[in-house]
Amino acid sequence: MPNIYLVGFMGSGKSTLGILLSNRLNFNFIDTDKLIEKRNSMSISNMFKTKGELFFRNEEKKIIHEIIKLNKTIVSTGGGLPCFNNNIETLNKNGKTIYLDYDIETLYLRLKEDNERPLLNNKFLKNDIQELLNARREIYNKCNYTILCKNLNQDEVLREINALIISK
Ligand code: S3P
Repeated sequence: MPNIYLVGFMGSGKSTLGILLSNRLNFNFIDTDKLIEKRNSMSISNMFKTKGELFFRNEEKKIIHEIIKLNKTIVSTGGGLPCFNNNIETLNKNGKTIYLDYDIETLYLRLKEDNERPLLNNKFLKNDIQELLNARREIYNKCNYTILCKNLNQDEVLREINALIISK
């Protein structure tokens, strides 16, 4: 079974959905952010501050090139991961990518209280989220599948992902 990569903007619930899905399908589970934090013994927000974004993006790239060698793994990817170092092409070639497409309003409501995401520190304006999402959407749209999540609850999103994995 090929790996499944959950892709989407910060606040799309990739990690929560990934864990639930891996239990349901009996797949392994990897959260790229958590793995990078563990390997570096450092939070991502600290990593951005002390080592810089470039270091973090390089860690993402390294980890992806290891993960593609595995199979039967659900992978929750960091929101920016597909957008750097041609990672989206690497993922598409080595598994199924699923873009969890949420609208700005939902993302804004989920992210506005968040202090842990370095790219949004001091940037709680809807316009900032919109701008970053606009810049990234072209990449997200390269995913093999897209789920329009706006009007779906968590269980419905899970069912859609499940159906995609089983039917294709
Ligand atoms: C980032 C998203 C974060 C994390 C890092 C950078 C981004 O992951 O990888 O803070 O560039 O969008 P989540 O999407 O899990 O929040």
